[in-house]
Amino acid sequence: MAQMETRFRVLRLDEVDSTNLYTRGLAEDGAPDGTVVVARKQTSGKGRLGRQWHSSGDFGLWFSILLRPVFDPKFAGMLGIGAGVAVAQAIRSLVGAEAVLKWPNDVLIDGRKVCGILAEGRTVGRQLEWAVVGIGINVTHPEGGFPPELEGIATALSQHCACDGEGSAPDKDVLLDSVLSEFGARYAMLHEGGARRVRDEAAGLMESFLGRRVTIRGEFGVLEARALDLLEDGTLLVRLDGGETMRITAADVSIGTCARGPGENNA
Ligand code: BTN
Repeated sequence: MAQMETRFRVLRLDEVDSTNLYTRGLAEDGAPDGTVVVARKQTSGKGRLGRQWHSSGDFGLWFSILLRPVFDPKFAGMLGIGAGVAVAQAIRSLVGAEAVLKWPNDVLIDGRKVCGILAEGRTVGRQLEWAVVGIGINVTHPEGGFPPELEGIATALSQHCACDGEGSAPDKDVLLDSVLSEFGARYAMLHEGGARRVRDEAAGLMESFLGRRVTIRGEFGVLEARALDLLEDGTLLVRLDGGETMRITAADVSIGTCARGPGENNA
């Protein structure tokens, strides 16, 4: 089978409330698969689980990709996971830092979050009509530093870039191209029955997470468990302290038992 290739068309905005919100609007208006919206600043960046994403300045790469996948919607969760793999690989090749993943798709360097991903979608019947994968990468330190609640939790690429000396960071356009090219390859795999391959890559990047004791916060409350495995549909298999196993589809998972409350967050 010829390899599917997605052509990305990039729309650039100076300022927007949220590239995810804007791209969802484009999706409803019929914009095609592969439309990318990138903004220099977001006035109301959205994080997972209703949180805010700190992106009101020009210190990061804030963008969303509109997708119209034609594979089984049971693999929809793999879009965000594939995006996490793409970002981690782009960082590894451009920055040389050992980027890893924490389920579902946080990208960490040295235990701190450098990128968050918010995947949203609309399913009609058995078909995923559209998906929007929003990606926020902290490229440099925000002016004045991260807000106090993110200090020690969030990081930026400039703190890990060995390429042109300490404090430098990859050009944002080069980073965007690299992430899109890495993501395009995983998106093609998902269309070619390769969810297992994407899962294997992601699990490889989650080695420091899988097997660990975790605290899970979700609609069901707070659970203590061990992270057992990443499944092919992107869900996380855990063993609860009571002994039973559970598949987690949407939740906030932290390693260990340390507490973290809701609120503004890019970590
Ligand atoms: C998370 O909570 O970890 C997900 C954060 C996702 C942030 C990105 S920035 C670009 C896109 N637009 C948004 O409003 N959110 C996503």
